Amino acid sequence: MRISVIGTGYVGLVTGVSLAEIGHHITCIDIDEAKVAMMASGISPIYEPELEHLMEKNIQSGHLSFTTELHFSSADVIYIAVGTPQLPDGTSDLQYIEQASQVIARSLTKDTIVVTKSTVPVGTNHWIKTLIEEAAPEEIKVTIVSNPEFLREGSAVYDTFNGDRIVIGTENNQGREILDDINASFGLPIYHTDLKSAEMIKYASNAFLATKISFINEISAICEKVGANVEDVALGMGKDNRIGDKFLNAGIGYGGSCFPKDTNALVQIAGNNEHDFKLLKSVIEVNNSQRMKLVERAREAVGDLSGKRISLLGLSFKPNTDDMREAASIPIAQELVNQGADVVGYDPIAIPNARSFLPEEVQFKETIEETLRGADVALIITEWEVIKSIDLITYTTLMTSPIVIDGRNCYSLDEVRRHPIHYISIGRPEVQ
Ligand code: UGA
Repeated sequence: MRISVIGTGYVGLVTGVSLAEIGHHITCIDIDEAKVAMMASGISPIYEPELEHLMEKNIQSGHLSFTTELHFSSADVIYIAVGTPQLPDGTSDLQYIEQASQVIARSLTKDTIVVTKSTVPVGTNHWIKTLIEEAAPEEIKVTIVSNPEFLREGSAVYDTFNGDRIVIGTENNQGREILDDINASFGLPIYHTDLKSAEMIKYASNAFLATKISFINEISAICEKVGANVEDVALGMGKDNRIGDKFLNAGIGYGGSCFPKDTNALVQIAGNNEHDFKLLKSVIEVNNSQRMKLVERAREAVGDLSGKRISLLGLSFKPNTDDMREAASIPIAQELVNQGADVVGYDPIAIPNARSFLPEEVQFKETIEETLRGADVALIITEWEVIKSIDLITYTTLMTSPIVIDGRNCYSLDEVRRHPIHYISIGRPEVQ
């Protein structure tokens, strides 16, 4: 099938490349000329394991191309994968969706299927259809499909080929059959529903996962008070299939471009429909306060932070990505700087991005050793493999009296006890 994908952010690019890999002919469209030139030469603008390899392969085989030209006359199906960023009031900004719809309408010469990949509030797919049909030549009909994505950054390619389900929300059988054909080669279970339910599944899924995280973080706070170990609690809970063992890692909360944005948007959607989503509001509140825990712990451990050298290990919102959006390192670094600390940051790949997200006072170091040398406190923000596999002797040799505050529970307590480290983690007994 010939498919055009509008928008080459993380969703659009991964979708386009994956559809090319299963044999479709994909044209990825973006208005950014420099980015299009870069992608056309096989270079990915985002760090995503396996993506560049698949890009190169499918460009060479002629299944994948990139353009800035907004023409869709040869496309059988058009995917919209533009951003829907958060507005200051928490709602989704639909201006890029609106622009894409207008561009589609202007160049349509035949009936077309339009698939929405972007995360959009309930009812948006109906609105997109109306926008396109009103602006397109009169006889043209548009079939709209909601096909939300459930990819995790850092394992987006893996998730595309190994996901738990593909959700297809449609208004008629034609959309359903074509989307089934397009997705058949992924070999994954397909769940069919109507447009609004598909839109809702995306928000409800992200909100539920965020709820699990805030729930276990609340449990971790109680564990700290009563002397239990949250890891053991989560493992014991996860043995119950009804609960499941995923997304129960206590830490400094969720970040990234999805959970914070989508939870806020769902609270707004609920409010706009006269429902006060109290539970989700609490989830967001718990997450916001969770992020500051490491700074509070640092103050408890060393007192006034002014003039103290504090190392941040890991800066991206999670491992295997250079994405800094809504990363916990941002409010943490800002608060440390506000309190007069001397902040040094390390990340294996996110430093170039981090420079524009973190306060200018933060210094960056290329190695873990340089970051830890002479530090009073080390804060672990992101559980990168290189950070999890640090030999704990490194802390004791490079820091005068090592205080490690671990926001991601990277080390086993038994291992830590073998070293002269003051170790504070989340929801687990402190080691002095
Ligand atoms: C998330 C969802 O997992 C995807 O299914 C969804 O498609 C995507 O949002 C999206 O809407 O586009 P992503 O934001 O890439 O994916 O990252 P996750 O791996 O879900 O992690 C999100 C945050 O939760 C990270 O900051 C992570 O550190 C945190 N987290 C995750 C925890 O604190 N504890 C956990 O147990 C799991």
